[in-house]
Amino acid sequence: MNEAVATLPLDRSGLTNWLRGKPYKFQHSEFELVPMTPDIVDDLYVKWMNDLEVVRYLDSRYRPQNLDTIRAFVGSFDNIDKFIWRIVRRSDNRPVGNCTLFLDHEHSLAEPGIMLGEKDSLGTNIPEETYRCLIDFAFFIIGVSKVYSKTRAVNIPALWIHRKMKMKQEGFLRDHVRFEETRTGLVYFGLLKEEWERERADKL
Ligand SMILES: CC(C)(COP(=O)(O)OP(=O)(O)OC[C@H]1O[C@@H](n2cnc3c(N)ncnc32)[C@H](O)[C@@H]1OP(=O)(O)O)[C@@H](O)C(=O)NCCC(=O)NCCS
Repeated sequence: MNEAVATLPLDRSGLTNWLRGKPYKFQHSEFELVPMTPDIVDDLYVKWMNDLEVVRYLDSRYRPQNLDTIRAFVGSFDNIDKFIWRIVRRSDNRPVGNCTLFLDHEHSLAEPGIMLGEKDSLGTNIPEETYRCLIDFAFFIIGVSKVYSKTRAVNIPALWIHRKMKMKQEGFLRDHVRFEETRTGLVYFGLLKEEWERERADKL
């Protein structure tokens, strides 16, 4: 199926309804979000998934990561319940990371995720703008009622990005997951559609 292409920041007046199963590509002045398929999984992606600094806070670190396992993972994304994109930096046309969106249609929920693999993309506009795009897509194209996310309490950059989006902390599970030689809590964040509409009102 051909992909739909949308320019960031999204122009809400020009948006069409979500087409189930259709991949979406997003173009920003600094990067592109390109729908991922198993055939574009390469050694760079394998390198990120085996870099303990990159996956320090992710459960993927507990499973083997090679071309086959990653292709199988990417192949499970259907653009219906699960979306995955490669983040490609425009300045040098290099992939710098990935992002995902998981949907729960019954409850009208979306859960975004982001992973930057290239260290020189940390601390740039890219993670923040990518996360914003995922939330816009969830609320304004798919039309969900709520976006939520969880992160380890020790993942300071992830806590930062959720707060930057004005997501509210809704829960905290104490000592919930393994973290290196110890355990850590999980922080749950939530964002309602009306809160995001207020946040984006003057920007879209
Ligand atoms: C989460 C992620 C996308 C955030 O990217 P980022 O915004 O570029 O992260 P940065 O390194 O710029 O850090 C964000 C902020 O946290 C601050 N920060 C980072 N590490 C910190 C630390 N150890 N102590 C205090 N502050 C810290 C940074 O200074 C920055 O704040 P500032 O902009 O006010 O200076 C990126 O870290 C990532 O891909 N991590 C790996 C995968 C992952 O953990 N994903 C999230 C799963 S929920």
